[in-house]
Amino acid sequence: MSLKLRFKSFLFRFLEILPNRLGDQVYYKVQDLFSKEDLDFKIRSSHNSFRTFQTITWENGIEIKDRVVIEIGSGWLPLMPYFFRYIGRAKKVETFDLNRHYQKKNIEKLNDAFSKEYEVEISKDKDKESAYSLPEDIKYYPNTNILDQKLTNCDLVFSRFVLEHMKPETIKSMHLKIKNESRPGAHIVHLISPGDHRAYVDKNLSLQDFLKYSEHEWKKKHTRFDYHNRLRLPQYLKIFNKLNLEIVHVSYEVPDENSEYYRKFKALELHQDYRNFTDEELMAGAINIILKV
Ligand SMILES: C[S@@+](CC[C@H](N)C(=O)[O-])C[C@H]1O[C@@H](n2cnc3c(N)ncnc32)[C@H](O)[C@@H]1O
Repeated sequence: MSLKLRFKSFLFRFLEILPNRLGDQVYYKVQDLFSKEDLDFKIRSSHNSFRTFQTITWENGIEIKDRVVIEIGSGWLPLMPYFFRYIGRAKKVETFDLNRHYQKKNIEKLNDAFSKEYEVEISKDKDKESAYSLPEDIKYYPNTNILDQKLTNCDLVFSRFVLEHMKPETIKSMHLKIKNESRPGAHIVHLISPGDHRAYVDKNLSLQDFLKYSEHEWKKKHTRFDYHNRLRLPQYLKIFNKLNLEIVHVSYEVPDENSEYYRKFKALELHQDYRNFTDEELMAGAINIILKV
């Protein structure tokens, strides 16, 4: 295990033994301190996700222009909401997060950079100007579990890099809720990154490394701060099928057989829970799914 991953695991274990509120506060500070990817990088990365979103929604005749979009899992910056609002011309974006990660000073920097890069004018919400410097058509709901929120009047629900951090039971309840509360014909778009995130910190690990553990062993390896389910593509699809959601689109990437990714995957001894899947099902990454309610 790399030193960096060892440190991260130790830190999360330490935070988990603190009282919940204190653990959250320290986690928040540490994330803020160490999240040093620059703003341009974050904008470019979200722009790539938005391009993917545009391609798959266009192929399926889905428009967001003048529509209300709900984002599950706002994260640290309102990047996807800005792309939806300013490039996709959505009428309104409501973004929900279990935590409160947005900060006015970071959003002000984003407003500058985004308006220069895409030549758009970002007009701040006059009533709530002091809160986050967000534009008026982007509403932020921090400290909010999407499961506790009424989702009426929404045309499209979106998430990016969120489903892999939810418990399978939460994914089920959330989709049942969306199905019951959103407009008939509404769409749900998920971008899912189902690989073992520890491999981003320790380059020696395979993106499927976590598949060598039993459920019990894996539970002991992570905390509420780095929770990651290990659902494979067919397992996600099974959840959606069981809820009778129409699966309109599925795309994903699989590493080339001559690549280092593939070599690392083949070197793993998979836990028996994963032995009945094909290599493609186990390795399917960068999953994009569109569902219709
Ligand atoms: C890995 S972050 C991704 C953030 C952002 N979408 C991005 O692409 O950078 C996942 C986010 O989902 C949020 N989240 C997880 N479960 C949630 C729930 N039930 N309701 C609302 N937000 C949730 C977490 O708090 C976290 O901020």
